[in-house]
Formats: sequence, C-alpha cells, structure tokens
Amino acid sequence: MTRRKLVAGNWKMHGLAADLREIEAIAAAAAQNPEVDVAMCVPAILIERAVRAVPRFAIGAQDVHHAEKGAHTGCTSAAMLVDAGARLTIVGHSERREGQRESDDEVRAKATAGLAAGLDVILCVGESLPVREAGDAVATVAAQLDASLPANSERLAIAYEPIWAIGTGKVPTVDDIAAMHSALRSRLVAAFGASGQAVRILYGGSVKGSNADEIFAVADVDGALVGGASLAAADFIPIIEAAARG
Ligand code: 13P
Repeated sequence: MTRRKLVAGNWKMHGLAADLREIEAIAAAAAQNPEVDVAMCVPAILIERAVRAVPRFAIGAQDVHHAEKGAHTGCTSAAMLVDAGARLTIVGHSERREGQRESDDEVRAKATAGLAAGLDVILCVGESLPVREAGDAVATVAAQLDASLPANSERLAIAYEPIWAIGTGKVPTVDDIAAMHSALRSRLVAAFGASGQAVRILYGGSVKGSNADEIFAVADVDGALVGGASLAAADFIPIIEAAARG
C-alpha cells in the first residue's frame, strides 16, 4: 500500500514570534511539494499566531490534556487547540513520558481526546539506550505501542523515536529502523486489521537533510518527526524535498 509521506517538525520549547518567518518559508516549500504532507508542532502559545501567519499550512501542538475541561492548572484541552487553529498534536513524546512521567494509559487517553476533537494525532514510542543494548528494543517498543494505542482512526500516525537518537546525531542502522517499523506495522495490523496498513509510521531522531533520503527509503518509513532540524527553514526544507523524492 502506498502511504503519503508526512514530515512533521517539533519545535519543542523553542520559538518566539520572530521565528514565525521560518514557518512562512517552510509553508511556501510545502506548497511546492504537494505530494508530501508537512506540519509544524509549535509551543502552544505560538499556535494561534502561526495559524494566522500561514493559514493554509498545518500547525500542531506538542501535547494535549486528556480531559475535556476542568481543574488542570497550566494544561491545554483538545478543544482549545482546535479553537486556536491547530490541526494536529503530538502525544507521548519521550521527553514528556520521562519529564512529566506520562504513563501509557495517560498517553492513550490523550490520543483518544485529540482524535475525538478532530485533531490528527502523532503518537510517539521509543526505547532507551539500555533497552536497545540489552537487545529488547523491538519487544519493548511493540509493548509500548500496544499499551498506548487509541481506537483505530485514519487521523492517527505513529512516530518511532529511539530516545538515544534524539538530539544526539546518532541514528539507528537502516536495518534496525526497518526491523522496528515492520514490528510496529504488525502490531497495527493485529490491532486494527487491514486498516492498520494505512497508519503512517514516522521515524524520529536526528533526521537531517543529509540522512533523510536513506531513512525514507526504508520499508514502512512513512515520514519523519524532526526536532532540531525543524527550527530553521534552511534545514527543514531539504527533508521535505527528500520525502517528495521517495
Ligand atoms: P531531533 O530531530 O532533534 O533528534 O529530535 C527528534 C524529536 O524528538 C522529534 O520529536
């Protein structure tokens, strides 16, 4: 099955109003590569301004609370994200699973809330270095996916992000990426039946213009979730172009 590639940026806790000019340049490049889906997940407080700057481009959030509303100081609901113009949200990023101690159950609830509100959801999974070195990466990440997977939706994507590859310049071998993505595809088909074939599985962790072609050539790699190389248009646009090539 052919799946459209999705290249999503994650600005993490970077970006001020002046940086919206990078998104303007990225949106222009995305418009020139219509065969690729492109999105940028910005800090929540920038969402509305980014949407105003590039109304036809997909702006997303990096997290969402699982509850519709209530006494959750400092949190943002899915309805608030939609209200601000967001089209998607990341959930379960390892920086939140670790830093905010988010459990699989919580990640599943967040994904469910995002989908229910009409957002596209990118659900992140990935192993730590000790797990990789112990040879347990595939089993661990497959179990993480099973435990955090919401109900089937065509607006769901998965991002495999090995924690040790995030922001380090280290990338798994193409064989290791292929093995993981194949295992995740099997889990999706086990959970959702044939429609599990339609769920995109992104790779994330030190993706750059210089390694994107190689990564996108791997079977079952349907795009990328990009951190550091999404901050500047000059770094991100070559990744969009690589996705358009293959
Ligand atoms: P880097 O691309 O900076 O390694 O970050 C990956 C990531 O965590 C995207 O969510």
